[in-house]
Formats: sequence, C-alpha cells, structure tokens
Amino acid sequence: MTNKRRLQKLSPVAGIEVEGMDLASSLTSHGINQIKSWLDSYQIVVFRDQYLSREAQSRLTSSFGPLEEHKGLSGSGDITPSLHIIANIDSGGNPVRLDPSDHNLFWHIDKSYLSNPVQFSILHALETPKHGGDTQFANLYLAYNELEPKMKERLVGLRARYTRGASKMVGRDINTDIQYANDQNQQSTVSHPLIHTHPSTGRKLLFLDIHADHIEGQPQEQGLKLLKDLLEHATQEKFIYTHNWLQGDVVIWDNRCLLHRAIPNFAMTANRRILRRSLVRGFNPIQA
Ligand SMILES: [Fe+2]
Repeated sequence: MTNKRRLQKLSPVAGIEVEGMDLASSLTSHGINQIKSWLDSYQIVVFRDQYLSREAQSRLTSSFGPLEEHKGLSGSGDITPSLHIIANIDSGGNPVRLDPSDHNLFWHIDKSYLSNPVQFSILHALETPKHGGDTQFANLYLAYNELEPKMKERLVGLRARYTRGASKMVGRDINTDIQYANDQNQQSTVSHPLIHTHPSTGRKLLFLDIHADHIEGQPQEQGLKLLKDLLEHATQEKFIYTHNWLQGDVVIWDNRCLLHRAIPNFAMTANRRILRRSLVRGFNPIQA
C-alpha cells in the first residue's frame, strides 16, 4: 500500500471509501487482491472521481473474474453487452420516470435466480441527480447474526426457490402471490440454501431476495410467509448503508452477502441518473 492511499469507513454496517487508487490504469494482482480483501472486510468499496472508459471498466471487472452477460427481462430477450447502462432516460436521452415495478427498486441480489449468482457487482456513476437517486445495501451477515437462535435452527437445511419473474409479485396480496409463485415454479429449477457460508470469509449469512418465492418441501403459503418475514428482518434500518452517488463514483460490492436496491428519491423527470454496470460471473452458494 502506498502512503497516498487513504481508507475511510462509510458506516458501521458496511462500506469503505478508498482514496489514492486510479482504476483507469491496469491494477496489479496485488491491487486486485487488496480490493478483494477490503470486500471481505467491508463488503462495499467506493472510489470517487474515477472516469472510466468502457474499456477501462471492462478491464477492471475482468480482473476479478469472467464478465457476466446480461439478458433483458422484457423486449427481445437479446443478450446485451456485458457492460450496460442503467438509467431513467428515453431513446432521445431525456429523463423519464422509472417504472415503479422495476425490480432494481426492490431488495435483490444480482442474478440470484441463476444457479451461480454474481460474485461482484460494479456500478460507475456517469451522471447523477443533484439530490437523491441513492442505492441502499443491506448486510446479510448482520441479518443472520441477529436471527433468534430458534430461527437459525429452523432455517438449517432449508432451500429457497428462485424465479426471475418473482419480483413482479411485489405489492400483490398473498393469494395472488401464491398463484403467481405456483405458475413460476413450474419452470424454475434454481434453489439456494437460506443459510450460506461465505466462500471467502467463512462467515454465515442469510441469503434471500425478492426473487425467492418458494421454500422446498413446504406448502407454498407457509414458505412465502417465511420468506417475506425474513426479507423484512434482513432489511431493517440498522442493517442498511445508503450510498449517495457522486458523478465519477465506482462502487464495487460483494453480491454474495448484500441485498441492494435503488431509491427513486429524486426528481426523475428533471434529472438523468446514468450508471454503467458490470458483473463478475457467479459462485455456487455453499450450505452452512
Ligand atoms: Fe442490482
């Protein structure tokens, strides 16, 4: 580590800001391992004033592992480039209101519905609103730690089923949820243990998100109720770090132990919020 490098914790929950690293230049393996080590300790690493070209962000992301592709949920279903834009703009570049059912607005783990969810996610702020447009992160280690001992015992060995469309259940009543989940689960074969052991830190965590809609071996209604209760537990204020974006930010997080969501707390029709996202291909969740 050079003398110029400075670290600042962003919250008691998660997050560290690092000064003195230029992500646009190729990082050495020591530099990448240093970032991975910070991710193990703080789950989120924030770099300010980085202005990365697509190539530089692609190179940075590849340093952590293979890039994950992204497939749009609506439209043609075409695979989009591994680096893609998340923004509230129309085809003319004008700011527009976000679709309130956009799953980015709900607590999720990137690509939890894949057999191997994403390991690390990277967002680079190209343009930010003057106020708001935050991203929140919830620490799933803390959520596990604060479960009642009886609940920890109850969850051992349970697996949640994931479907990509499950996020569409948000805001519906539980009976509609059950019907929807039943329909979706005719197709889904992806499940993950509710309690994980993190492959790098060895710490236990609670793993679930808005795409989980079924617990294997349990009646639909019972499983769904438990999942909703657990998600509510995991997203209490005391487990959350809120990131206020500045233009030029690069935020790297460990997708294996955090939930996240975008907050539509900005004047959407007056401000463009443009983030460039890249993802590092997945991991196989380990049963605790
Ligand atoms: Fe996301």
